[in-house]
Amino acid sequence: MRVLYVSTEVHPALKTGGLADVNAALPRALVAADVDVRLLLPAFPALLAHATDRGPACALGPALGAPAVAVLPCRLNGVPAWLIDAPVYFAREGNPYLDPHGRDWPDNLQRFALLAWVAARFADGSVDHWRPDIVHSHDWHAALCPAYLRARGGAGPATVFTVHNLAYQGQFPGPMFAALDLPAHFFAMDGLEFHGQVNFMKAGLFYADRITTVSPSYAAEIQTPAAGFGMDGLLRSRAGALIGILNGVDDHAWDPRTDKMLAARYDASHLGGKIRCRHAVQTELGLVDDAGPLFGVVSRMTPQKGLDLLRACAPQLIAARARLALIGSGDADEEAAWQALALAHPGTIAVHVGYDEALAHRIFAGADVIAVPSRFEPCGLTQMYAMLYGALPLVRRTGGLADTVRDANAEHLADGSATGFVFDAAESSDLRAALARVLALWQNPIAWQRVQITAMQSDFGWTQPAARYRALYRELRPQA
Ligand code: ADP
Ligand code: GLC
Repeated sequence: MRVLYVSTEVHPALKTGGLADVNAALPRALVAADVDVRLLLPAFPALLAHATDRGPACALGPALGAPAVAVLPCRLNGVPAWLIDAPVYFAREGNPYLDPHGRDWPDNLQRFALLAWVAARFADGSVDHWRPDIVHSHDWHAALCPAYLRARGGAGPATVFTVHNLAYQGQFPGPMFAALDLPAHFFAMDGLEFHGQVNFMKAGLFYADRITTVSPSYAAEIQTPAAGFGMDGLLRSRAGALIGILNGVDDHAWDPRTDKMLAARYDASHLGGKIRCRHAVQTELGLVDDAGPLFGVVSRMTPQKGLDLLRACAPQLIAARARLALIGSGDADEEAAWQALALAHPGTIAVHVGYDEALAHRIFAGADVIAVPSRFEPCGLTQMYAMLYGALPLVRRTGGLADTVRDANAEHLADGSATGFVFDAAESSDLRAALARVLALWQNPIAWQRVQITAMQSDFGWTQPAARYRALYRELRPQA
């Protein structure tokens, strides 16, 4: 089974969010399941710098406004890969999608169309003598793959498109359709047109043979107007082709027994190391030691993540002698509001605006609770990292958060299955009630530790999810 895995970011070379973590771990898990996976990504400088085993470039000629396009065979994280060399579009440092001022690059349509155009060129085996059975593309940046393959016609590879976040769709003015070099009839309601605009996400949802998303709950939610971002009708019409497969955790990167970024290592039967980690991160961030729990947040700062709800609960945390350590970046207003809160409560609230992988690890290890109050969350990885690191997640019942955390209600506390705290409405009153439950359980260290140990023993491995993707590929191409 040959799978061309098309995406834009891979941890640790280049990461803007959970997508990069998935793109590091899932291909490795598929290789372990005997799938011949090859990655295809733009040759962003950070990816080129990480690539090993570089082979001779394979020229593809000019395409979509790029004077010369080539693919460079190499390996990323040990997995065979091709990087698309088109310097006019991809030789840009920093964030792959945004310019240094945080604005979309003006030629994003051409840049990410080229990614899919190159993927489709693999269909006939003429690129580097390798012909995929399946082209599996991820999020809007790679969502045109099924469209370009459909435009080629004939018996090409089957297509799988994975939605990691429906909120980002890649939408461009209608007249830019001409730059895609696709047949005119693709710009239609039965195609990639959406209210007169070009919509990459819609192309993936419309043309792919199968659509997957990253949790079963999110697969159901996106078929409703409340969470469908305008695509719910199309998704309902494609319900038979849509499945939710829960993400796993990359155990190479996230294991408190081996994590070299921590002050100490630990596991569920040796929790002393975790206490050292808490002291170390509190000292590092200038937080006092006190009677209440240490709350942590590791998050992008966008309305999706609901951090404003948590800010509204700060007085309750302070009154309970809790501390809060937050690392995040994103919306300037949210960043500023958190910084102001930290300034007003030195020693109690510490805020690091920015991106720092190692500090994120130290917060997961040091925290007693990790808050993820998202308004919506396709999967969410941080609640799983929290559980494996013995920090109880405090999450809203949505998407993958609902699918991974078992609330510490009376029933689950009694039967020993609780792994965290779950609240319902995206309102600070609901979060406040959940916080009261967190603080009450904290008063009972034996009950707390029982939940902690159950959480740490969760199985979030990639073996099961990879087997489900493999089964999906097999369903589409039984002979491969
Ligand atoms: P999303 O992809 O929506 O941002 P996920 O929970 O799937 O949410 O993944 C977020 C990933 O990014 C996790 O690996 C998390 O640890 C990491 N992360 C988020 N913000 C930061 C930050 N400021 N510094 C370091 N890592 C971060
Ligand atoms: C997106 C989603 C997040 C998910 C990640 C990986 O960034 O926002 O919920 O965990 O993709 O699939």
